[in-house]
Amino acid sequence: MKAVILAGGFATRLRPLSCTRPKTLFPIVNKPLLQHIYEKLAKDGITEVILAVNQQTALSIRQQRIPKHGLTVKYSYDPPKKPLGTAGPIKKAEKLIGNTEPFLVINGDILTNFSYTELIEKHKQTNATATIALTKVDDPSRYGVAQITKDTRITQFIEKPPKETAPTNLINAGIYALNPKIFQYIPRGKAVSMEREIFPKLVTEGTLYGHITSDLWIDIGKPEEYLQTNKLLLDIAGSKQKTPRKYQLNNPAAIDKKVKIGDQSTIGPYAVIGRNVTIGKNTRINNTIIFPHTQIDDNTTITHAIIGENAKIGKNVTINKNCIIADHARIKDNTTLPENTSICPAKEITPQNILKTKNTC
Ligand code: GTP
Repeated sequence: MKAVILAGGFATRLRPLSCTRPKTLFPIVNKPLLQHIYEKLAKDGITEVILAVNQQTALSIRQQRIPKHGLTVKYSYDPPKKPLGTAGPIKKAEKLIGNTEPFLVINGDILTNFSYTELIEKHKQTNATATIALTKVDDPSRYGVAQITKDTRITQFIEKPPKETAPTNLINAGIYALNPKIFQYIPRGKAVSMEREIFPKLVTEGTLYGHITSDLWIDIGKPEEYLQTNKLLLDIAGSKQKTPRKYQLNNPAAIDKKVKIGDQSTIGPYAVIGRNVTIGKNTRINNTIIFPHTQIDDNTTITHAIIGENAKIGKNVTINKNCIIADHARIKDNTTLPENTSICPAKEITPQNILKTKNTC
């Protein structure tokens, strides 16, 4: 069985961290999301993956050398500077997918333990052109919302309705089983939206079905959700790190290889420290993700933030809630970043220029 992973979007809601990496490569507890996705697909018996990407994303993915768990991985490219949306890339990959059996499509920004095999089985039991995995959320207004009959046929599909008008709280989980008939619905070489153009058409024809799941499902679309996803996995994994002697470790936390941590520092709870990170003395980090190769000096406090790769954070720095520091940024000694501050890639921030340079990406 084949699966298409859609991973060619621009992840605008995860800027400035997504200026330098695609969403599917964001680390989740020190492992790229795409690696989690490959592991799950291989476990569910998928044999071939088609990555629907742009050239830049493909390059970044190749550089990561992610273990493929026996999957054959092929690439299908959107034309340069012409993103094809969420349906166009499926048409583009038609030859690679073939037209003999149903296939899966997965958004590359989702972590789930939902059974793909079960979705395909359900799909085969009806005359569906598409079967969407549906999950329940408290606020459906940011998603595609579905109304479904007892025999699981979708009678209404509305993309991002205002909260009060959403007919249900069952939303499109970004995972579909598709019949090759779908190719007839998608024009070639154009940006086409699955959610806004194709699904509503299938509803009118009565060939769009849903499969409700209550399994773990989370998308990392926004910084807060990305932090939550890491927290969730830390909770599931439990506390594996042993308490060392020189610094204090408050579990749950995850510390990758080659990390150095100075005396009297306090790490966690909910700290994810990437490979080759250096942390000085008497520094406190909690509810935070630090990407690989970053240096953090002494007497610094970081709370509920995301720090990109190869960043340099000086002494006596305070980084407050919901701050995002992009790759290669430098935060000089004695700087305090107010809540919700975003710092662009490679920017240098000092106590003097902080008000002028924050949130300017
Ligand atoms: P935002 O800009 O923050 O909305 O993110 P996005 O557009 O990257 O992601 P969105 O949640 O809208 O898209 C769902 C999935 O489809 C993600 O995994 C995207 O990478 C992927 N995707 C979105 N647009 C395209 C596109 O034009 N081409 C391809 N190949 N994939 C896409």
